[in-house]
Amino acid sequence: MKNVVSVMMRKGGAGKSTLTLLLTDALVRMGLNVLVIDMDPQGNAGTGLGRKVQMRAVEARIGKTTLEEPDVLTVIEVIQSGEDGVADEAVLLIDTPGWQYPIDLPFHRGGPLSAGKIGRVGLIPSYSALEDLPASWKPTDFERLAHTLLLPAERGGIAPSHRWDVVLIDTAIARALGVQSAKAAFYALFVTNAEKFGVDAIPETMRLVEDVRDHYYHDGIDVMGLVWNAYSPNQITARALTMDAAQAHTAKQKHWDAPIWPFEIPKATVVSDSHDMAAPVSAFLGTSEKRKPAAKVCQVAEAIALRLLDTIGHPLAGELREAWVQAWPENEQTNVMTKGVA
Ligand SMILES: Nc1ncnc2c1ncn2[C@@H]1O[C@H](COP(=O)(O)OP(=O)(O)OP(=O)(O)O)[C@@H](O)[C@H]1O
Ligand SMILES: [Mg+2]
Repeated sequence: MKNVVSVMMRKGGAGKSTLTLLLTDALVRMGLNVLVIDMDPQGNAGTGLGRKVQMRAVEARIGKTTLEEPDVLTVIEVIQSGEDGVADEAVLLIDTPGWQYPIDLPFHRGGPLSAGKIGRVGLIPSYSALEDLPASWKPTDFERLAHTLLLPAERGGIAPSHRWDVVLIDTAIARALGVQSAKAAFYALFVTNAEKFGVDAIPETMRLVEDVRDHYYHDGIDVMGLVWNAYSPNQITARALTMDAAQAHTAKQKHWDAPIWPFEIPKATVVSDSHDMAAPVSAFLGTSEKRKPAAKVCQVAEAIALRLLDTIGHPLAGELREAWVQAWPENEQTNVMTKGVA
């Protein structure tokens, strides 16, 4: 199964980390195991999962300076090693307080889709030193993450990516990190804001993917789709921009090949609240005052997750979709539950 998806957009603040976390939440509540690879020196995906990398003093010092190192293995060591299958060794299992699920609650209150079954979340974290790493890369070094993640450690063994239902790579805007991420993925999933700069970044990101195909010899990457983030339906410019984008795609304009998925993640404070609290958005389904916006965001994330499962050909995709439609009370179903069914 081609289950490694790079969440991309060459613009800061487009919603890459947000979408990564929303999809993780949706997929694990569907009972699937998700590995998140943080490929951004900012480490936002890890912070959102409650596992920000901490620096600790090492024995060595020079002058008055105490040297520091990260408290856990990170994606840097994984890439530096470059050894087949080594990614397994760096996976942290997420069991942080925010990400412990209310197993007894129904799905629409933040619990699992099928009774008692919550998937596992794994994380390969990142921290600021990732920023400096690409300076040392030669052309062949851009395959390192692909080797560590997609190849088994020994012949006939299981590749790290195959231990998970879905592997999500949260990417950075830096070009070299984008190439490294795309080389390790079978699909790119685009996410951006319906704002001028957000839309301008779409062909820009497509150019990077094409570059990876043509100049980095990875024609195995497809762009599965584009979703909108932080969307306010009442904003006329946002509506106009999404329509322009759809038209550019239909007219087969150059660098507009990404299929535009009919999903808009609403702009909602509950999204940033979930980041602040290092908890999934679904945690707010149990509260009273944030329940409504949380339900809307969750349903969109779930619809995107299901479309992703369809695209990668996950064997449970159909079954999960049926269970999903049953799981939400009819009076709470927003139109995302009926539209965009593949
Ligand atoms: N749908 C939303 N509603 C409200 N706030 C949002 C939403 N999506 C993102 N945000 C906020 O916008 C900011 C940027 O989002 P995010 O970090 O996901 O973007 P990014 O593409 O990962 O950025 P970077 O390029 O820096 O990694 C964050 O502070 C986040 O909390
Ligand atoms: Mg980010």
